[in-house]
Amino acid sequence: MNYKPFFTLFAFFLGSLCFLVAHEDHAGLRHWEVPSKDPDRIILTFHGDPATSRAVTWRTDKSITSAVAEIAEATVNSKFQSSTVSFDAQTEAFDLGEHKGNAPLVVHNHSVVFKNLKPETTYVYRVGDGQKYWSEWIQFKTAKSSYGKSQFVYFGDAQNDVLDHWSRVIRMAYKTAPDASFAVHAGDLINLAHRDHEWAQWFKAGGFLHSQWTAIPVAGNHEFMHPGKGIPRKLSIQWRPQFTLPVEDHLDESLHETVYTIDYQDIRIIVLNSNEKREQQTKYLEEKLKDCSAKWKIVTCHHSIFSPASGRNFQFGRDHWKPILDKYGVDLVLNGHDHTYARGHIPVREKVGDSSQFGTMYITSVSGPKQYPLNPKQLKSYQTDGYVSDKTAEQTQFFQVITVEGDTLSYVAYTVLGDEYDRATIKKNFATGEKSLID
Ligand SMILES: [Fe+2]
Repeated sequence: MNYKPFFTLFAFFLGSLCFLVAHEDHAGLRHWEVPSKDPDRIILTFHGDPATSRAVTWRTDKSITSAVAEIAEATVNSKFQSSTVSFDAQTEAFDLGEHKGNAPLVVHNHSVVFKNLKPETTYVYRVGDGQKYWSEWIQFKTAKSSYGKSQFVYFGDAQNDVLDHWSRVIRMAYKTAPDASFAVHAGDLINLAHRDHEWAQWFKAGGFLHSQWTAIPVAGNHEFMHPGKGIPRKLSIQWRPQFTLPVEDHLDESLHETVYTIDYQDIRIIVLNSNEKREQQTKYLEEKLKDCSAKWKIVTCHHSIFSPASGRNFQFGRDHWKPILDKYGVDLVLNGHDHTYARGHIPVREKVGDSSQFGTMYITSVSGPKQYPLNPKQLKSYQTDGYVSDKTAEQTQFFQVITVEGDTLSYVAYTVLGDEYDRATIKKNFATGEKSLID
């Protein structure tokens, strides 16, 4: 009997089956969201001292089961390759199909924390499987181990149609502040917490910037999903796999990697999760401020302490967090959530009404396309808390550049066109702690 036709048929059937199995998980995905052996979604985050360490996280398909990151001091040519240090990655598998809106697809996230780096040094790194599938070489600079000039960017909510409409914001921010060291994303980076298509857009919109600007992601309400009545809301299934962030062990586990503190060149940046377990964070905030000797203190959380849009009152923030911000002289508070723009400040408590005596600057901003109208009456109502409204805007996509140098912290808001819209400078006497606001 001639078995050849049967073998041919069987081989064809097997090949077709393999093809289907290999491709069924990718059904409906755009080519730029399909994981492969090549690293994608590469992002730097802080983990440990920014002068001597940095974390990198990336994604591949599930065939990459062990991964590495290589790092070296950058040179003017490619010779740094002979002095690289290799770090083994931690690899974590997770099924995007945990959320029924995603394709049932297992991906691998890999992370490395680079340690023992030299301060104020330009490094070059790449990530990959250690053999064939590598990223490009990417540069970043470690922080100084003491006070010095720092610059960073801050984005309010990107949230909606991120690829279509946020790309030009982050790209204009890079054009305006190419030397920025890090980027604060003040919550609602995307709209539907677990929807991988949206995270794919966020990573594609920022492209290589995510891998060379260190990110400070803040959890907004849209980074959570409500599974149903009586069931606790759940942080985006992508959040912890894709961002390697500091863990504050003494806090409730549900707050891990959403509440953390970064000390960058004598600037303390406290990140809060304004969505849940806020009482616990009141203690945390005080703990992080009471013995803080940093020259500048910045707090960021998603919900706006002085909300400028209707129906978005964050009373808890004003009742419980603002008194601590007042008490410890926090310089700057960066918020999002309201899809409009407001800059205001609080004079020092004992001199309420004298706006030349400066306490804390409060910003609410938005970087994405969704826009809400301002409610001037609501802003006015905060006068009883001592709030002085300095500048507002609506229907505008913004990014902000903050520069700390010498005795000043300068804040500039730019529109997506790259035009300066708003500017304020805080001048501080470090010996006495006295501050003034220069518009
Ligand atoms: Fe929000």
